[in-house]
Amino acid sequence: MVVAERKILSIVKNKPYFMDGNFVLYHGDCLNILSQLPDNSVDMIFADPPYNLSNGGFSVHAGRMVSVDKGLWDVSKGFLDDYEFHFRWLEACKRILKPNGTLWVSGTYHSIYQCGHALQSLGYHILNDISWFKPNASPNLSCRFFTASHETIIWARKDKKGKHTFNYQEMKNGNWPEDKLKKPNLQMRSVWSMGTPKPEEKKYGKHPTQKPLDLLKRIILSSTNKDDVILDPFTGSSTTGIASAMHGRKFIGIDMEKDYLELSKKRFADLKK
Ligand SMILES: C[S@@+](CC[C@H](N)C(=O)[O-])C[C@H]1O[C@@H](n2cnc3c(N)ncnc32)[C@H](O)[C@@H]1O
Repeated sequence: MVVAERKILSIVKNKPYFMDGNFVLYHGDCLNILSQLPDNSVDMIFADPPYNLSNGGFSVHAGRMVSVDKGLWDVSKGFLDDYEFHFRWLEACKRILKPNGTLWVSGTYHSIYQCGHALQSLGYHILNDISWFKPNASPNLSCRFFTASHETIIWARKDKKGKHTFNYQEMKNGNWPEDKLKKPNLQMRSVWSMGTPKPEEKKYGKHPTQKPLDLLKRIILSSTNKDDVILDPFTGSSTTGIASAMHGRKFIGIDMEKDYLELSKKRFADLKK
């Protein structure tokens, strides 16, 4: 990292859990770590916060009935407490984003409307809501509802008047073989078709809500430039960090579970092989 970024990190009183070049991980509650980062210091934030859906339900995976519970971190604390948490981390993120910076937040209906409400209450300017369609989504067990097969990803700018990065030509003319909906040389639309993570993305272990690399690659290439600083306050297995490193961006990830940070380290080490 260059001097400016090292300065940013030296302000954080918690020591990094792991640091190698432009890839830094912090262990702890994101509200605590974010509060130590300087104002206007980050170009882009991707956040995949708790969905608050781990309340004893069941789904199907590989033909077997499985619990939908992801972990204690995903248990709902009730509507108002869940909302307050989303409001507080989005507020903390707004302070550290640069004036032209943008934030992406992903979720299902359990969480995304609360995040959208909090974003608007905090004065973010919404740019898009992306529908990530999963052609290989698990079937619905009860047969009393439609099969849940998408997540919503809201893209918002810190400031209504800011000038955000959007790499339009790369999105329009790039090569997107994973997406059956993207037609060559036509504008990129807001519905993206991509499968869940491939087996090789899970070879060092599985995070229960791991995002596919293809998704983070597209988000990063569309909204950042080389050497930008990207932060993920709920980094999990650090899909955001791996895609950042693969595309020459600097990365700061935060998670309160050491097991996931260990998984992140293994994924990062694999890039160097
Ligand atoms: C939905 S998962 C993120 C998965 C990640 N996008 C990936 O591709 O692996 C959310 C993560 O947030 C972490 N988490 C939950 N609450 C947190 C908090 N208050 N501070 C930091 N991390 C938190 C959980 O441990 C979990 O790993």
